[in-house]
Amino acid sequence: MATMPADRSPESTLAFLRDGYRFISDRCDRYGTDVFTTRLLLKRTICLRGRPAAELFYDNERFVRAGATPKRGQRTLTGVGGVQGLDGAAHADRKAMFISIMTPSAISRLGQLFDDEWRARIPIWERSGPVVLYREMARILTRAVCAWAGVPLAESQVNRRTAELHAMIESPVAIGPPHWRGLLGRGRGERWAGDLIERVRAGTLPAPEGTALRVIAEHRDLEGRLLPRRIAAVELLNVLRPTVAVDRFVVFAALALHDHPAWRDRVGESDETTESFVQEVRRYYPFFPVAAARVRRSFDWQGHHFPRGRRVLLDLYGTNHHRALWPSPEEFRPERFTGWRGDPFSFVPQGGGEHLTGHRCPGEWITIELMKRAVTNLTSAMAYDVPPQNLALDLGRMPTLPPSGFVVTDVRRTA
Ligand code: HEM
Repeated sequence: MATMPADRSPESTLAFLRDGYRFISDRCDRYGTDVFTTRLLLKRTICLRGRPAAELFYDNERFVRAGATPKRGQRTLTGVGGVQGLDGAAHADRKAMFISIMTPSAISRLGQLFDDEWRARIPIWERSGPVVLYREMARILTRAVCAWAGVPLAESQVNRRTAELHAMIESPVAIGPPHWRGLLGRGRGERWAGDLIERVRAGTLPAPEGTALRVIAEHRDLEGRLLPRRIAAVELLNVLRPTVAVDRFVVFAALALHDHPAWRDRVGESDETTESFVQEVRRYYPFFPVAAARVRRSFDWQGHHFPRGRRVLLDLYGTNHHRALWPSPEEFRPERFTGWRGDPFSFVPQGGGEHLTGHRCPGEWITIELMKRAVTNLTSAMAYDVPPQNLALDLGRMPTLPPSGFVVTDVRRTA
């Protein structure tokens, strides 16, 4: 049995927080491996990257998710009791609930709501001073996803709900006040979502058929029971929160257009070109650093031992930047996706494997749709200037973002 390379430090949590998205890849490169062991949050942890590793990681016979996500991540980002921590039949049942919401017509309806909100803002931006794209996108996406999900949202509540959803996204790895804001945001968000679920069940809030609010409120588990109010709230937030998080990808798309201006004209040449551009944004820019699981029962793989219960992290960012999979991975080259047939284990910005049977993100189609519309709006619906600002991405911050939030000025409507 080969000895698994081990990180030299006895406890690497601080190094993980410092090195961020590069933590696993740096060590893999250093030890000449795609698998090594370390200690994170006082627990022995196996780190993996690359295609064979992703294929292994998404094998449900070998890994479980229950107890894999550290508590601080559950208490802020994902919530406790949601689909992320389920396994087996309970996971399949809950996952089918999410997938049922993502019909092609529902996805394009969300895209249309997003476009409508965006285009309504252009005249306001034309008259305003500098516009921080990240902040604007967050509010636009909050309005669009609430309307789409059947969630009533008064204009006076938009900023508050957006801030709560953002706080959950920003806080899992953060320390101190940003983490506390995440806890607070989740508590308030779950109370709000729980009230909505109860009102739909009581018949006092009409929610159109097929909307996330209605589907989640009426979902019955394998024993035929409605989801407990708090779990249903977690699942409703599992639709709202990550859809608002697409604001980050929109900022990354704007950054890519800024850094590669030739793509401003090329991107609208065909639907395939727009999609290739969007895929490269999802591959190139850092969003989710890792996915976590635990070994279901002991096994050996490539001569390495994986003991039962051991926590395992798959490096999503590192797999998307793996030299063996992506030639010149540190170059932004949308052409690499032209004619690309798809591969569930080499391109994993939103997880890998199967959507229905595994833990791969059920919001991937939504994300791509929203990003395509965003790219079209940024290149065809409006013109703008990008003044000097700090656009550097800090890979030690998770999740990262250009510090300026991407400021644009002198917005002009062009369509
Ligand atoms: C903003 C862009 C998004 C990114 C970067 C992203 C990323 C991810 C990642 C990395 C996972 C975990 C995969 C794993 O554990 O193996 C995940 C799971 C999940 N995502 Fe997304 N996601 C995004 C958008 C969305 C959207 C728009 C929705 C819903 C409308 C969504 C809902 C979920 C849910 C419910 C899960 C849990 C799935 C499961 O455990 O079976 N996400 N996402």
